[in-house]
Amino acid sequence: MSRAHNFNAGPAVLPLEVLEQAKAELTDFNGTGMSVMEHSHRGKAYAAVHDEAVANLTKLFGLTDDYQILFLQGGASMQFAQIPLNLLPAGGSADYVNTGTWASKAIKEAKKLGNVNILADTSKEIPTNMPDFDALAYDPNAAYVHVTSNETIAGTEIKKFPKTPSPLIADMSSDILSRPVDITQFGMVYAGAQKNLGPSGVTLVVIRKDLIERAPETLPTMLQYRTQAKENSLYNTPPTFGIYILMLVSRWLLAKGGPAGIQAINEAKAAKLYAAIDGSGGFYRGTAVPACRSNMNVTWRLPTEELEAQFIKESVAANMSGLKGHRSVGGIRASIYNACPPESVDALVEFMADFQKRNG
Ligand SMILES: Cc1ncc(COP(=O)(O)O)c(C=O)c1O
Repeated sequence: MSRAHNFNAGPAVLPLEVLEQAKAELTDFNGTGMSVMEHSHRGKAYAAVHDEAVANLTKLFGLTDDYQILFLQGGASMQFAQIPLNLLPAGGSADYVNTGTWASKAIKEAKKLGNVNILADTSKEIPTNMPDFDALAYDPNAAYVHVTSNETIAGTEIKKFPKTPSPLIADMSSDILSRPVDITQFGMVYAGAQKNLGPSGVTLVVIRKDLIERAPETLPTMLQYRTQAKENSLYNTPPTFGIYILMLVSRWLLAKGGPAGIQAINEAKAAKLYAAIDGSGGFYRGTAVPACRSNMNVTWRLPTEELEAQFIKESVAANMSGLKGHRSVGGIRASIYNACPPESVDALVEFMADFQKRNG
């Protein structure tokens, strides 16, 4: 069997062990004579999956009883609206930091619903950059502070989260569980599953329990966090197959040593790739300021757009997929999430050296 070197930004590579297990269980889950997809979300077989997903994530985040895990739908994009709907009271204000495309989208939704205070805007900076989060003027009366921990398109990542006077909320879509974080620093973190956690269709929310109760009761039922919180994310039919894969990924991650274990692997992969860029004598140029380079999405340029197109074309022929930069910025992007095997990065680094030899 031949697996591609998959550098897709999301949906993205999943651990082969997870896919193999899902395949083995696809038509007969745990001797029940049906797939997990065909089970009732209220039945015993699925309950075990759901409960293990929650238990494993509780362990991986090191959650205390003050936090709750929710499995929602609508992607991280739905959270851009659901956060202000639940947590931004009429007449109140929320702090946002604009670090790029994804933060901008979160801001756009929040502005439709209330007052937004932009603490910093690095979204147009080239090379792509992030502000010094410790130096920002946080409003002590803000309902919350919203940040994007990893800008998937810009290839930048927050290296140190600030201590904020109001609850810190992070869109962790593209670096969730890729490194240890002190969850007690956050009011809420969230992520679409399709980069580091599983398939698309599940949105993970980890929320401090006191925030759950802030939503106005007039908000439509499905938009209130308390609805799914009260029902252990089973108020309506959850995306059961997606949660099953997420559960398998959480098991895989625990076996890798959790966030600290995977961080070591992720840092080694990213270091190798950035060294290849920096060691190319300027043929490859990283697009992010080195101090905030992402360990998940590595972005760079070549001397010309023609060479970039050639690079992408040849990479596909070399069994590599997903290296084309986001359509809004061009260039090259390698997404090297948790499940991207080190061997794929080795293959890419080798390909880069060979390509430069032939075209440099
Ligand atoms: C940082 C970040 N936030 C939000 C999103 C949007 O996620 P979704 O497609 O789950 O709505 C993405 C998607 O790539 C992302 O990278």
